[in-house]
Amino acid sequence: MYLGIDIGTSAVKFVCADLDQILAVASVGLKTSSPQPGWSEQHPDLWWHATREALQQLAGKIALTDVRAIGLSGQMHGAVLLDRHLRPIRPAILWNDSRAAQECDELYAAQPQIGQIAGVLPLPGFTAPKIAWLKRHEPDSYDRIARILLPKDYVGLCLHGELATDTSDAAGTLWLNQAAREWHAGIAAATDVAPDWLPQVVDGHSVVGAVTAQAAAETGLRPGIPVVAGGGDAATGAVSLGATEPQRGFISLGTSGQLFVADRIYKPNPERYVHAFAHTLPGRWYQMAAMLNGARPISWIGGQLGLSAADVVSLAETVSGDRVPVFLPYLTGERSPLGDPHIRACFFGLEDSTTRADICRSVVEAIAFCFADAAQSFGDTMGSLSELAAIGGGSRSDLLLGLIATVTGKSIVRSDGADSGPAYGAARLAACGDGALAVTDLSDQPPTTERFEPSDLTALSDRMARFRKLYSAVSAIN
Ligand code: XUL
Repeated sequence: MYLGIDIGTSAVKFVCADLDQILAVASVGLKTSSPQPGWSEQHPDLWWHATREALQQLAGKIALTDVRAIGLSGQMHGAVLLDRHLRPIRPAILWNDSRAAQECDELYAAQPQIGQIAGVLPLPGFTAPKIAWLKRHEPDSYDRIARILLPKDYVGLCLHGELATDTSDAAGTLWLNQAAREWHAGIAAATDVAPDWLPQVVDGHSVVGAVTAQAAAETGLRPGIPVVAGGGDAATGAVSLGATEPQRGFISLGTSGQLFVADRIYKPNPERYVHAFAHTLPGRWYQMAAMLNGARPISWIGGQLGLSAADVVSLAETVSGDRVPVFLPYLTGERSPLGDPHIRACFFGLEDSTTRADICRSVVEAIAFCFADAAQSFGDTMGSLSELAAIGGGSRSDLLLGLIATVTGKSIVRSDGADSGPAYGAARLAACGDGALAVTDLSDQPPTTERFEPSDLTALSDRMARFRKLYSAVSAIN
């Protein structure tokens, strides 16, 4: 039995699986704090506490002593800053934090080739500009930095005591030379980062360490269980769906959203903010549009209206048509394809007659429109895909998957276990590290349970055009 641990933004999610199926799941919610507009932080110790709690839940369902290996997955791009005792200096600065905009401009000026090297143009969510921001605004914290990790790797440190990351999480820092799969000294220097602050970079299925006696005492896990590096949540989500080979693609509808296509070749396309990143497995890369707001606007509007996410979607299903307002879902700015950390969300077209159902519908439609924009930014690559798999909480909604199929023109398929994609992918990497699966077995695809075909776009195309015009108009105000 293999354990996958996904350090998400809204929850840590655990999956226990054998080679064919998921045996048990557990999850513990996490809160994000935003001490200033555009900031997004979580203390790394929250992740470790939630991990211990989730393991307690799991212990009620399965025998933790049967776990043969552990794999990690996590939210990407967060800056976890450790002092020389390997303790967090301050809360981690997360992937959806937009404070470091000025530092991105400075980094681009210092490294104009960065898009080709690091696979994407600088944006505040990535790890590198956050360190330059810290040096300018919190010099005392900056002076104490001895090590930098990504979120899942901090939980790895708590489990096995080693400092390591995998290629896919390293890819999201902006410090990685994607083609060579090693740190780029020039970009590190341009963001005031000493080379020895960065962890070793290994493949996702490589064993990094073993559960220590102390971690075993704190968690109930057996000491000595091997822990593989795992991957950033985009890459582990891909592994859960077999998206490790060319022409395999999927969409992820979690707190963030992704359109992801795997490849054997590194293909940078930085102009449209498509990310070209190293995959977690050797000799593989991927292209990804990363949408900061994903399916999160559904739970956000639900929170405002006192509805669950499922209620929001059910209400949205009851209406359609021209009187539904147009919503821009950019609650935390947007990365792909706009590269706009300053844009914010808004509704347009509210009338006296607008109902809660209309508002819910406009939110769900907006998420689909973001995927249409993302698909457009991929250009020819989309034509080579026969279908897109869907994972993440938002993939539970038939309405949303049907809308995305229609606006992207691609069949969308749902498979079993789609809710726990990245954690399941991490468990598969653990099985590979343990020798029970070969790297090539990780391209196995789970059976499809439902399929959503594109339908007639006419009814939506006018609204999608208004959505795009609304962005142009609103971005001029910022
Ligand atoms: C990917 C991205 C998000 C985070 C959080 O580039 O920013 O997917 O990993 O899920």
